[in-house]
Amino acid sequence: MTSYWDYLKLDSILDAQYPITEAGDEPLFIIIHQAFEMWFKLLIRELRRTIKQIGLRDIEGATHYMHRVNVILSTSAHGFDVMDTMTPAAFQEFRDALIPASGTQSFQFRELETLAGMPKARTVDDKKKYYWEDTPDASMTIRLFMEKYGERLKAVEEEVAAGGSLRSTFSRLLLRETGKPSLLEAANSATGPLASLVHEVKAFDHGLIMWRDKHVATTKHAIADSPGTAMNEKGQLPTTSCVEYLQHTITVQQRLLFPEFHE
Ligand code: HEM
Repeated sequence: MTSYWDYLKLDSILDAQYPITEAGDEPLFIIIHQAFEMWFKLLIRELRRTIKQIGLRDIEGATHYMHRVNVILSTSAHGFDVMDTMTPAAFQEFRDALIPASGTQSFQFRELETLAGMPKARTVDDKKKYYWEDTPDASMTIRLFMEKYGERLKAVEEEVAAGGSLRSTFSRLLLRETGKPSLLEAANSATGPLASLVHEVKAFDHGLIMWRDKHVATTKHAIADSPGTAMNEKGQLPTTSCVEYLQHTITVQQRLLFPEFHE
């Protein structure tokens, strides 16, 4: 017989929090990250549905799913508000125990970026360069991540090469439907259902930037100018302040999926 607890596998989910210190706020830190990963899971699923409908030229269907992706993205970002209730001193009680783990090892975040169509050079590779530009084999944190998830990441890249990312499928659709030569002109001339899809895709790009902004603000609040917890092969922490690094991921590269719309 179906039950609430079994249907939702609550025993597994609610028994998946294992703090590694006695610090009072570590369970909060764990649960917030787990909640984000659950939102990422749903977001990725809905993004795949969006891409599929774009490929089928189902503009209304694609708009429906893209809108849902946007709501999930902005809802998940409220998790940072909860994180912000943790004081820097409370974080300091367990932060060092996390080294060399880092949010940069979130496979689902990379999956999301890859499906969206962010160039790899601006995701995984960039991190190595920025933190430890002078060391050839840069980051232990990234190496461990690639050892664990390299194959799965490759499978997502192959999926995108075969079926397209949000960026590539949407660009193709937009240019074809409007007959315009550039994405900017095409977006500006779109009408009716296509204009709604353009609006949602732009909102997604904006939502990603807003998510990153909130993440930087949380980081700033929690650790100010200390380095991140990522580590290189020599066991060194980054020399650059992590806030500086995270700001670099937003402003220097912009991380826009469609920089064309902002020209
Ligand atoms: C006190 C809270 C947090 C702090 C201090 C923090 C700090 C950082 C820092 C410093 C980095 C850069 C890499 C590194 O040096 O480790 C980073 C990356 C990242 N963090 Fe956080 N973070 C926090 C909360 C979160 C939460 C709640 C999430 C939700 C999943 C998250 C997801 C990520 C992701 C996905 C990256 C990689 C971003 C990218 O590659 O552009 N972080 N975080």
